[in-house]
Amino acid sequence: MNEITLMEKIISLAKRRGFIFPGSEIYGGLAGTYDYGPFGVALKNNLKDLWWRMFVDEHDDMYGVDATILMNPKVWETSGHISGFTDPLIECEKCKHRFRADHVQTKPKKDEEGNILKGEEVWVCEHCGAKNDTKDPQQFNMMFKTHAGASEDASTVYLRPETAAGIFMNYKNIIDSIHPKFPFGIAQIGKAFRNEIAPRDFIFRLREFEQMEVEYFIKPDEWEQTFEKWRAVMHQYARAIGIQKNDLHELEVPPDDRAHYSQRTIDFEFDYPFGRKELWGLAYRTDFDLSAHEKESGVELKQLDEATKEKFTPHVIEPSLGVDRTVLATLLSAYRQDEVGGDARIYLALPSVIAPIKAMVSPLLKNKPELVAKAKEVRKELQKVHPAIAWDDNGNIGKRYRRQDEIGTPYCITIDFDTLGEKPELKDTVTLRHRDTGEQERLTTQEVATRIRESLS
Ligand code: GAP
Repeated sequence: MNEITLMEKIISLAKRRGFIFPGSEIYGGLAGTYDYGPFGVALKNNLKDLWWRMFVDEHDDMYGVDATILMNPKVWETSGHISGFTDPLIECEKCKHRFRADHVQTKPKKDEEGNILKGEEVWVCEHCGAKNDTKDPQQFNMMFKTHAGASEDASTVYLRPETAAGIFMNYKNIIDSIHPKFPFGIAQIGKAFRNEIAPRDFIFRLREFEQMEVEYFIKPDEWEQTFEKWRAVMHQYARAIGIQKNDLHELEVPPDDRAHYSQRTIDFEFDYPFGRKELWGLAYRTDFDLSAHEKESGVELKQLDEATKEKFTPHVIEPSLGVDRTVLATLLSAYRQDEVGGDARIYLALPSVIAPIKAMVSPLLKNKPELVAKAKEVRKELQKVHPAIAWDDNGNIGKRYRRQDEIGTPYCITIDFDTLGEKPELKDTVTLRHRDTGEQERLTTQEVATRIRESLS
């Protein structure tokens, strides 16, 4: 399949089927913003729930927080974001469009006769095609600024560019209220904002997005084993949400490219149609944050080492996963095209655990009250397994299947006259259709319930 077209197909399906829409579209949109529709919200919530299960609930030493987006600006001074959370910015001299300096295409500079000038380069404006002399870029801070309070000189505050800071702000609260045994971790899922110079590639680079982050606090000499532990959990999560092993690659980030706080970072890269790019990150943040906050706030953030009875500042391992990039990688991994009964079809082979709808129930004909009543009864029974059992009686059965295929619903259940006893030996059985193969089988409602339950475990 042509890879550019694949991206267009995903964007089109996401819109057509109510997963993801451009933000404020009737006013022409707003760059770097997308809204999630009913099935997008469900998919996103399922991805977040599964993350919470695998990164928090399945560990006895993990604690959750939900911190504010607006924080005291000292947080960002101390974390280094006010001075250092920048991208290099350049402006086209002709059309004045602005670009990230590390994203533009450069070419050798030529003189008027067309001879290449050794060691000199120009960059080509993506918007108007003008060739610009390369210059030192300006450093552009990516934090969104706003004001807290009603007075004219209300103080400047920032929308958080990462959720991690809210975790560091609650480190002492967790110790004082929960008294966790050391080592332990704190997790948070929430919005983050970055004024990206060039938001692009659908929901890959956004200005408003969500993160799922863990800060795991350790003794300095435990960093390597803890790094490996979370690295393994990240791979398990990738498998659980349907990302193929072949599409996920680890990149050891070289020192010059690492964030200012990191002593080691692995980027988990995904093969997107627009190239191999970052999906998630795993970083060893050392004691950078706690030491800096302790120094600036004057509040002690050290731990007592029970063995040596000496105090130390905990170091941190941080698995950081963007929710929206996870949604994108999940949709790309699940997208399939095939033929069923000679007709082309599209379906999303989503694992049941993250599928927005776990099964759809429908009566063969919607104008037969006895079929509708029985189908409602079956649906109610199946909703005891999971509430996300949809009802669809619109159009013919083939159309209903196609619709559910595109949403990624693993099972469709049809109630027909045999269910009502037209063929006595089939009474109380229903047709279960499998999304990926289109195959159908005849089962009792209880057997279907078991199938759905098993698919979710
Ligand atoms: N606390 C560490 C941190 O924020 P990061 O690599 O800057 O590290 C972590 O971001 C993750 O957040 C990325 O791996 C990506 O999944 C997601 N992310 C970062 N910037 C994003 C953007 N502009 N749009 C969508 N997701 C983004």
